[in-house]
Amino acid sequence: MTSEKTNATLSFDDKTLELPMRSPSLGPDVIDIQKLYGQGGVFTYDPGFTSTASCESAITYIDGDKGELLYRGYPIDQLAEKSHFLEVCYLLLYGELPTAEQLNEFVPRVTRHTMLHEQMAYFYRGFRRDAHPMSIICGVQGAMSSFYHDSTDINDPWQREVASIRMIAKMPTVAAWAYKYSIGQPFIYPRNDLDYASNFLHMCFAVPAEEYVVDPIIARAMDRIFTLHADHEQNASTSTVRLAGSSGANPFACIAAGIACLWGPAHGGANEAALNMLREIGTVDRIPEYIARAKDKNDPFRLMGFGHRVYKNFDPRAKVMKQSADEVLGLMGIENNPTLQVAKELERIALEDPYFIEKKLYPNVDFYSGIILDAIGFPTSMFTPIFALARTVGWISQWKEMIADPTQKIGRPRQLYTGATHRDYVDVENR
Ligand code: CMC
Repeated sequence: MTSEKTNATLSFDDKTLELPMRSPSLGPDVIDIQKLYGQGGVFTYDPGFTSTASCESAITYIDGDKGELLYRGYPIDQLAEKSHFLEVCYLLLYGELPTAEQLNEFVPRVTRHTMLHEQMAYFYRGFRRDAHPMSIICGVQGAMSSFYHDSTDINDPWQREVASIRMIAKMPTVAAWAYKYSIGQPFIYPRNDLDYASNFLHMCFAVPAEEYVVDPIIARAMDRIFTLHADHEQNASTSTVRLAGSSGANPFACIAAGIACLWGPAHGGANEAALNMLREIGTVDRIPEYIARAKDKNDPFRLMGFGHRVYKNFDPRAKVMKQSADEVLGLMGIENNPTLQVAKELERIALEDPYFIEKKLYPNVDFYSGIILDAIGFPTSMFTPIFALARTVGWISQWKEMIADPTQKIGRPRQLYTGATHRDYVDVENR
C-alpha cells in the first residue's frame, strides 16, 4: 500500500505543475508523473531507469545503502538460513509464509509437474551439442507455449496458476537436460521423492549406469543459491518479463524473454564471467595488475562480480554466499582452492582501495556463487542457467502481480529523438 502525500511542484518555461507524491511502505517517496505529458507537454528522460519506478510492487524490497534485501518483508539472510527454496517460492507467489498444511499441499503440487512432455526430448535434439545451455533453455522455455497450450490464457486465473507451477517445477528438468545434452549423456528423469535441490543435482550428475547419492550439504548449498537468486525486484530481466507480459503475451514466452535478458554479462552472465576472471588472474601476485586495469578509464575491463546498480553497500547475498563457499569447499577438503584464495585476496585489496571505496563497489552475489558451483562440479556454462532456474519464481511472481493489477497497461516508454528532422525522399540516381 502506498499513501498520497502533498504535491511536488515542477516549474519550466511559463508553466507550474502540481504533481502528486506517494509514499511507499519502505524507501524514498515517489513523484507520480503519469499526467506530466498530458498537462505539461514534456517527457522525462531517464536512460537505464536510474530514477524511475516502473510499477507498484509488494514482493521484494532492496535498501541499497543499508545492503538490505527483503522478500515479502523477510530478510534474505534469515530465509537463507532457516527456510528452503520451495517455502520461499510459496512466500514470493502468495505473499505469506505457508502453514505446515499449506506447505504439505504446495510441495507435491509442484513436484507433480516436474516431468517434461516426452516430445520435448526430441525438441532438444534439434540443438547442436556444443550450444550454450542458456540458448537451449531459452529456446525450450519459449517452446513450452506449444507444449502446454492449455495454460496460456492469461485472462484465466486458473491457467495462470497452472502455468506458474509448471514453470517452477519444470525449470530444473529443462536446465539439467540442457547440461546432459551438452555432455552427450542420457537425460535423467526427475525424482519426486527428492527435495527440489537434490532432484536437480540428481538430474545433472546421475547416470543410468550407477547409483548417485546426493550429499545433503551440497543439496543445502544448492538450495541456498536458489533462495538467494529467487527475486530481486525490478532488475533488467524482471522488467523484461513485465514488459513482455504487458502486451498480453503468454507466460512461457514472457519467461523466455527474461532468460534472454538474464544471459548478458552485466546481469546473470556475470557469475560465469567472474569465475573466468578469477581463473585468468590465477595467482594472488597478479591481482594488482587487474585492479589497475579495472581503474584504467581507457581499459574496458571491469572486476566481474563487483558493483551493483542498487547496492551501494555490501550485497547481503554475497555475505551468505561467501559463508556457503567456505562450508562447501571445507566439506570437500579443498578450502585451499587457488580460485577461492584469489577471490578472498581480491576482495580484501579492492575493499581497501580508494577507487572502489569512493564508487561504493562491493562484491555482489556472483562473486562467490561461481566458486561454489565449480566445486559442486558444474561447468561455467551452467552458472547462468542455474541463476535462471532460481529466478523463474521471481519472474512469475512479478508477472502475476502485474496481470492482477487493475492499473496495468502496455509498457511503452517514450524517447528523446535526436535523428534527422523531416526530409523528402530522393531517387537513387540523384543521391
Ligand atoms: N569494476 C570496475 N569499475 C566499476 C565496476 C567494476 N565491476 N562497476 C562499476 N564500475 C565503475 C564504473 O566504471 C563507473 O565509473 P565512472 O563513474 O568513473 O564512470 C562507476 O563505477 C559506476 O558504474 P556504472 O556502470 O555507471 O554503474 P551501473 O549501476 O550502471 O552498473 C553493474 C552496475 C553491475 C552493471 C556494474 O557494476 C558492472 O558492470 N559490474 C560487473 C558485472 C557484474 O558483476 N554484474 C552482476 C550484477 S549482480 C547480479 C545481477 O543482479 O544480475
